[in-house]
Amino acid sequence: MKEKILIKEAIKARENAYCPYSNFKVGAAVLFEDDEIYTGCNVENASFGATMCAERTAIFTAVSKGNTKLKAIALIGDLNGYTYPCGMCRQVMSEFAENGDIKVYIVKNETDYLVKTLDELMPGSFTRKDLE
Ligand code: THU
Repeated sequence: MKEKILIKEAIKARENAYCPYSNFKVGAAVLFEDDEIYTGCNVENASFGATMCAERTAIFTAVSKGNTKLKAIALIGDLNGYTYPCGMCRQVMSEFAENGDIKVYIVKNETDYLVKTLDELMPGSFTRKDLE
């Protein structure tokens, strides 16, 4: 089942987090229109501001391979709770989401996870449609 694989891949990606400043590991896995799963972790920087979140690392990797339609995303941060995506990552998700109903899996472990839609997390978002 794709959902389970996505969750497993996010958990695996978390292990590569480069986070010497926060010590807060995050992993993400995304499914795009080519039906491939791309993963990412947070990559911190001594300047702090140059830090990249796990979700955007994964999304930008998929886009750099020629994809533009995000179908689902899983993320995992804190192993003892549910880490929701930051506002900037929600904005980037809304740029590529094929619609507002795409699922966002907010994962604590392989069996405990929340399932939200992007619209629930980011209602009334500003998108390219606003620029038409
Ligand atoms: N972080 C993410 O990777 N994704 C989020 O949605 C929230 C925050 C990372 C950035 C930073 O490396 C660490 O978590 C602490 O903010």
